[in-house]
Amino acid sequence: MNKKTVTDIDVKGKKVLVRVDFNVPLSSKDPNDPNITVTDDNRIRASLPTLNYLLDHGAALILCSHLGRPKTAADKQYAMDPVARRLAELLGRPVKKLDELVGESVTAAVAVMQPGDVILLENTRFEPGETKNDPELSARLAALADVYVNDAFGSAHRAHASTEGVARALNGPAVAGFLMGKELEALGTAVNNPPHPYIAIMGGAKISDKILLIENLLKTADFILIGGGMANTFLKAQGYELGTSLVEADALPEATRLLEKAADRLVLPVDLVVAPEFKADAPATVVDVNTVPVDQMALDIGPKTLALFQEKLVGAKLVVWNGPMGVFEFPAFAKGTNELAQMLATAVDNGAQVVIGGGDSAAAIKNAGLTEKMTHVSTGGGASLELLEGKELPGIAALDDK
Ligand code: 3PG
Repeated sequence: MNKKTVTDIDVKGKKVLVRVDFNVPLSSKDPNDPNITVTDDNRIRASLPTLNYLLDHGAALILCSHLGRPKTAADKQYAMDPVARRLAELLGRPVKKLDELVGESVTAAVAVMQPGDVILLENTRFEPGETKNDPELSARLAALADVYVNDAFGSAHRAHASTEGVARALNGPAVAGFLMGKELEALGTAVNNPPHPYIAIMGGAKISDKILLIENLLKTADFILIGGGMANTFLKAQGYELGTSLVEADALPEATRLLEKAADRLVLPVDLVVAPEFKADAPATVVDVNTVPVDQMALDIGPKTLALFQEKLVGAKLVVWNGPMGVFEFPAFAKGTNELAQMLATAVDNGAQVVIGGGDSAAAIKNAGLTEKMTHVSTGGGASLELLEGKELPGIAALDDK
């Protein structure tokens, strides 16, 4: 990485503003529920190496993050209190949660901070200037600290006041944390310098969200294995009848174009698990792609497709996976996604680096109990996609160069 990191600067006795991505799922959406808990603390845990390093090196920490997509500060179910409680448990030290992002209470609390103190500011998105990247808000955040550290990889694709504006406004170092570095190394290898054979696996509902991604992957990947709803649109473009399956009619010309460009490297399903309706208990049947009944829809990839994918994974040196193979929330249609997760664990045993690109694929790997087995499971959904699309992420671009 060509950006400075926490190890390049001196933080002793400094007040350090750390942007983390604590956008985590909560147990309740009731703003009056005093017992709300964090149901998946992976993103909080992922920030600990940076936070502990800074604390061990004599810094006082002012942390900030968004949580959900609140419309105003009145959306109290997005207040950071449950996150502060979980963070205090994981850090093993008190975390003072403030009820503002900027303002008098913040200025007063920051003024008396000592090395080792930890403050968590209120949800950055309670301030309307956050998503507008408002220079005034950026300046107020910058005024709180001597140093800015961005460890919020999951939000690095957002040019917001707390992720981008503040880095430029602060009169002092603006550097990356360890999580940011780890994510960029794992995903950056796939973009810039992949070992071969390099196999990308794409899934999820829509091809329209992933056209840029497929385009960019075709520059470096040897094969792209395609499952999930997006495979339907490719199959339709090849002339198959898909019954009542989700097909994006608007994206058919793009699918046709990509197939013309690289049909030999885009590996599509040869069979599907179909059902008469989108329901957990709908009866599942396996059919070849050329025999989908008119009144049935594809909800998963079939066993012949899994065998084909397995064949392509033999000898792989790098595998990047983004997007589930089917409706994995319904057990009857989760086999494609779960068996693929197991195949990737075997690929790791056989010497491949396997990188999971966040979001639903990370959830599927977690459900399968295989998170620890993978080379890297990204904490970013949209951010990892944009990085793999070859885009510059504003939250990273704004940090100091080495
Ligand atoms: C995420 O969960 O992908 C990040 O925290 C970014 O959240 P956002 O899509 O609401 O900006």
